[in-house]
Amino acid sequence: MIRAFRNSLGRFMKYPNHGRQLVRFATQNQGGSRIAPPAGFLPMRSFLIVVLTALALVPLAIVPGWALEILYPADGTAIVRSDFLIIKAGDSPVVDAITVEFGGAKSGMIDISGVEYRKAFGDFVILLPGFEPGQDTIRIEGFAAGKQVATASSNFYFLTKPGEVAPSGYTPFVMHLPEKEALCAPCHNMSPEPALLDNESAEKNPCGSCHRRRLNYEYVHGPAGVFQCTYCHDSDSRPAKYVNRVEEAPLCGECHEHKIEEFKSRKYIHGPIEAGLCSVCHDSHASAHFGQLTAAVNDLCLSCHSGLDRENHVVRGMTGKGHPLEGPVDPSAPDRKFSCIGCHDPHGGNTPSYFQRGISARMELCQMCHKK
Ligand code: HEC
Ligand code: HEC
Ligand code: HEC
Ligand code: HEC
Ligand code: HEC
Ligand code: HEC
Ligand code: HEC
Ligand code: HEC
Repeated sequence: MIRAFRNSLGRFMKYPNHGRQLVRFATQNQGGSRIAPPAGFLPMRSFLIVVLTALALVPLAIVPGWALEILYPADGTAIVRSDFLIIKAGDSPVVDAITVEFGGAKSGMIDISGVEYRKAFGDFVILLPGFEPGQDTIRIEGFAAGKQVATASSNFYFLTKPGEVAPSGYTPFVMHLPEKEALCAPCHNMSPEPALLDNESAEKNPCGSCHRRRLNYEYVHGPAGVFQCTYCHDSDSRPAKYVNRVEEAPLCGECHEHKIEEFKSRKYIHGPIEAGLCSVCHDSHASAHFGQLTAAVNDLCLSCHSGLDRENHVVRGMTGKGHPLEGPVDPSAPDRKFSCIGCHDPHGGNTPSYFQRGISARMELCQMCHKK
């Protein structure tokens, strides 16, 4: 199956930047009928955030047999997405309402006792949290007939910066392990047939039932937009499923051959690419920034080059004013804003500072935008 997709940029070209269509799809479903917010639901996005210190689990009168649990983000894990907060309320006996607290704010009572709700979601509660970057603690309380019967908490770390590593004490969250998938299997297809995985729509592809929000941005990467998730994620990997089939750079190179050839043709290769990294800068799925970037260009560059002398870059003239580093229009590429990549090729170049377009003389670089 994988072979068939080799050299297949053409096949996915039918669907370049699927973005707009998917954004519309998601907006329609945001808090809509698919995941109807239970009564008492407080939109988590309006939570005020204060950074809390790490807190261990605080067991308050937990009756044995209650199984209130925060599945995602699980206690002690580092996560890279904040699309969801997934809670299993426990149903022996039944928890019929919960409250959720994080980021310094607390929800009202979320009633999950309705017959319709139970039929669709069982004892699962899935919220759209929008966590703030860094450490936070989620605390939930479970109620039966108005009486608090259980609590649970999760101390987690939300990684947001390109290349950021979790502080010690947090392990990466992994979802697709047999014991976790077993919890979802009653309602979601967790062992799909290969033919189903080839389905190009969010509704029909089995990954879509949980991951369609992953594409909820303006710029959607070709193969992800048509749900070819298992082109890159190996459905046969064990114990954890869907690890990357091969290392990043060669994976990208399977479709972006010309780009890899271009990298190799340059005299100097940019540090991260030399190290085989692409995802520090590119999101393989979808992004709010052009070029599938993980952040706005200058923020991305400065996340690693934080020591750059921004006041004095390039022009060290008598005026003491450096060259502007951003602006509304890049004279060399009028369809994008002026930024670091006006002058620097983000992948490498023929000078140690990777001048754009393989240019090897400083003067020639200036003339790209300043004619004469
Ligand atoms: C009792 C049934 C049930 C169980 C068990 C269940 N789910 Fe779901 N889940 C649903 C239903 C129904 C939907 C809505 C499906 C749709 O809209 O296509 C859903 C949707 C979702 C979504 C997408 C929400 C959105 O709007 O984007 C995620 C994520 C999700 N489930 C995760 C999980 C995980 C993880 C597990 C296991 C740990 C799990 N679910 C177990 C019933 C269940
Ligand atoms: C029952 C819901 C559900 C289904 C179905 C599902 N996933 Fe996931 N998956 C999750 C959740 C929840 C996470 C963790 C949160 C996140 O990263 O969005 C996750 C995480 C992942 C990860 C990161 C590694 C890991 O294990 O945490 C990959 C890769 C992934 N899913 C791929 C897939 C692919 C490919 C499919 C379809 C074959 C799929 N998933 C189907 C719920 C689901
Ligand atoms: C072009 C290859 C490619 C495709 C197609 C792809 N992924 Fe990924 N995915 C990656 C890479 C590379 C990473 C690791 C990113 C990192 O380390 O920062 C990743 C990470 C993930 C993660 C965990 C981290 C995160 O950013 O959320 C999830 C979940 C995930 N993929 C789900 C999916 C789903 C669902 C699809 C299909 C809609 C999909 N992927 C399609 C390459 C791909
Ligand atoms: C299965 C084939 C395939 C794989 C594998 C793949 N891509 Fe792509 N990529 C595409 C297609 C198709 C497009 C859309 C091309 C277009 O719209 O012009 C695209 C577009 C892009 C773009 C945006 C181009 C633009 O002009 O905005 C970037 C950046 C990108 N891919 C990076 C990556 C990275 C990084 C990887 C590896 C993690 C990767 N791709 C793996 C097929 C693939
Ligand atoms: C340091 C950040 C960074 C890294 C690392 C990086 N890129 Fe890029 N890439 C960019 C930026 C910024 C752009 C947008 C440039 C533009 O549009 O001129 C881009 C554009 C692209 C494009 C589309 C533009 C085009 O000219 O076709 C592709 C394809 C691409 N990168 C592939 C890769 C691959 C493959 C890797 C890993 C081997 C990689 N990139 C690593 C920053 C990076
Ligand atoms: C993930 C971290 C990372 C990101 C993001 C990043 N760089 Fe780099 N950059 C490096 C490393 C590592 C080197 C190699 C430093 C060395 O060899 O001394 C480097 C080297 C450079 C150099 C050459 C430095 C010299 O001393 O001549 C330039 C120019 C540069 N980067 C520009 C950029 C631009 C422009 C961006 C944004 C598109 C960017 N970088 C994003 C890590 C990064
Ligand atoms: C107007 C063109 C231009 C822009 C815009 C620009 N640079 Fe440079 N940059 C250069 C030139 C030319 C050099 C070579 C050293 C010199 O002559 O000052 C350089 C050198 C560098 C170096 C290596 C030497 C050093 O000062 O550390 C890094 C790293 C770098 N640039 C990063 C960036 C980043 C990050 C941005 C965006 C915030 C940026 N540049 C914006 C032209 C530019
Ligand atoms: C990618 C386009 C680009 C390149 C390449 C470029 N510049 Fe500029 N430059 C600009 C823009 C945009 C401005 C601000 C608007 C203007 O004054 O035109 C600017 C402004 C300037 C200014 C006026 C500074 C000020 O504060 O108003 C000087 C001097 C300058 N550039 C010198 C250089 C030199 C020297 C080089 C080569 C090392 C260079 N530029 C390369 C785009 C560029």
